[in-house]
Amino acid sequence: MDHFLYRDGALYAEDVAISEIAAAVGTPFYVYSTATLTRHFRLFDEALAGMDHLVCFAMKSNSNQAVLKLLGDLGAGMDVVSGGEYARAKAAGVPGDRIVFSGVGKTRAEMDMALKGGIRQFNVESEPEMMVLSEAALALGTVAPITIRVNPDVDAKTHEKISTGKKGDKFGIPISRAREVYALAASLKGLEVIGIDVHIGSQLTQLEPFELAYKKVAELTKQLRAEGHNIRRLDLGGGLGIPYTRSNDAPPLPSQYGQMVRQTLGDLGCEIEIEPGRLISGNAGLMVSKVIYVKSGEDRDFLILDGAMNDLVRPAMYGAHHDIVPVIEPAAGTEQHPYDIVGPICESGDTFAKARTMPPLQSGDLVAFRSAGAYGAVMSSEYNSRPLIPEVLVNGDQFAVIRARPTFDDLINRDTIPEWL
Ligand code: LLP
Repeated sequence: MDHFLYRDGALYAEDVAISEIAAAVGTPFYVYSTATLTRHFRLFDEALAGMDHLVCFAMKSNSNQAVLKLLGDLGAGMDVVSGGEYARAKAAGVPGDRIVFSGVGKTRAEMDMALKGGIRQFNVESEPEMMVLSEAALALGTVAPITIRVNPDVDAKTHEKISTGKKGDKFGIPISRAREVYALAASLKGLEVIGIDVHIGSQLTQLEPFELAYKKVAELTKQLRAEGHNIRRLDLGGGLGIPYTRSNDAPPLPSQYGQMVRQTLGDLGCEIEIEPGRLISGNAGLMVSKVIYVKSGEDRDFLILDGAMNDLVRPAMYGAHHDIVPVIEPAAGTEQHPYDIVGPICESGDTFAKARTMPPLQSGDLVAFRSAGAYGAVMSSEYNSRPLIPEVLVNGDQFAVIRARPTFDDLINRDTIPEWL
């Protein structure tokens, strides 16, 4: 469920007409709904009620300061994967003891930053990383709390580019070697082993792969405890999928996921951490774009938009589907027409959808890409010297620009021409 609905024939974000935002900020732009972000965070929080838990928002999915502040104020922790994300989380007011540092290639500088600024735990992914982290902590006269990310060799049954828990993926340490790696960690003076971490992929539409992985984690918890490790926190990663179309089978709900967690891990007495990104932010955002031209090709018609693959790369990168809807609701019974929906970038890959049926549209009409709040703005670039598009946050009947569109001068002035040229 989200808060982007038609009202009197026009698309709204909560109580604000999309066309009103477009008039104020120009197109294309991203718009997020406070009510949807809040609702999705709470769904997870409630799904884990009764267990000691923390929902850490995977801010790789949407890292705007306003979004982080909103979720942080609701009590969310943050899952960060870089020094930049750590700095953003802190700048948004999230305390260090609610920040979890994930990622397969943390640098010493990133470790130092988090050790000095405060951290809940590092999710460590290799032995060499462990050595460096232990050294970094000792040099600062402290001890780093860690979990070790294990790779459970489970097929997440999702897109190959976002599957992370299979043998052969670069993530975690093989669960078969977990006991020796935990023994090594326990011997390093700069580390305190507190738990286990697992994350098997993103956009999972079934519970079974999670359940398989979590059962392996439950077993490992018992083994490690028997070997003297004080396992008291389980970080279960993110990955619960969202419906990208209104017609396909709906993925499981956070409540069903929470129930499964309770069943597989609830009796271990561990604190539970999860790292959802997409389910919190994905359906809380739209990308709004304008039709520049409708062009008749030899055997098809093209809708040429002012938004492009640099603004929303998921279709070009993963072949991802986003529902695209007109901002003016078509009258009931309006005949639909197939269009190839494309951006203006000079690559055929700059195609959002092929033969997508839409009501007839013309130059100047607005369209909205649904489910664009996760992995949209954060993955955008300025390819073709197209400035990053603005982000807007709606709350009831008010809206605010939460990231402004850079001017062409901003773009140009980022470069420096050496004196000798
Ligand atoms: N935790 C870890 C360690 C992760 O690697 C990820 C996502 C998450 C949590 C959050 O997963 P989520 O709940 O959002 O599924 N750019 C791709 C998605 C990449 C996901 C990477 N890791 C896309 O647009 O589909």
